[in-house]
Amino acid sequence: LPVILLLLLGCDDYLGSDKVMDKCGVCGGDNSTCRLVSGLFRHSLTKVGYHKIVEIPEGATKINVTEMVKSKNYLALRSRSGRSIINGNWAIDRPGKYEGGGTMFTYRRPNEISSTAGESFLAEGPTNEILDVYMIFQQPNPGVHYEYLLPSETHTRQEPNHSSRPL
Ligand SMILES: *[C@@H]1O[C@H](CO)[C@@H](O)[C@H](O)[C@H]1NC(C)=O
Ligand SMILES: *[C@@H]1O[C@H](CO)[C@@H](O)[C@H](O)[C@H]1NC(C)=O
Ligand SMILES: *[C@@H]1O[C@H](CO)[C@@H](O)[C@H](O)[C@H]1NC(C)=O
Repeated sequence: LPVILLLLLGCDDYLGSDKVMDKCGVCGGDNSTCRLVSGLFRHSLTKVGYHKIVEIPEGATKINVTEMVKSKNYLALRSRSGRSIINGNWAIDRPGKYEGGGTMFTYRRPNEISSTAGESFLAEGPTNEILDVYMIFQQPNPGVHYEYLLPSETHTRQEPNHSSRPL
């Protein structure tokens, strides 16, 4: 019987290379060039209105802000320069794609009665300015999980070696 070898294409574009993209987007990398920042916002709020949840710094990638369960609250996003990106000024936007901070956000609001999933924002980044995530609070907050990747400080690009040796 013929033996069929199936060679997979590695992220380096070589057939049969087993290199895969690490979580930082480096082909064959060891996850060391970025760090994950994550948290759960579960403060109980009392006043109806906009409350800041988290600040997403410049340079963030793989951004995921997700409400733990469906609620009557809404997520909102604005740039530090003051531009509303999603759900600003008490106007609720439709789910969809919204450009802001140099990246494209996908805003989801699962609407089916049967769904218990909450709202979410996802973006690949990198962001080019600070973005602030808010909750438009109307009922007890079920918790909002957020995460993003930042370039790792210990792997900042090395300065070229300015040799002082005579040529
Ligand atoms: C990098 O992280 C991913 C996801 O957390 C993991 O599956 C993978 O094994 C890690 N790679 C290395 C080289 O540690
Ligand atoms: C975003 O985060 C939520 C909550 O942790 C998780 O259930 C979901 O799978 C994540 N989405 C992506 C695309 O990573
Ligand atoms: C810069 O040069 C010094 C002396 O030659 C060497 O020890 C060092 O490793 C070099 N650094 C880089 C980043 O090449």
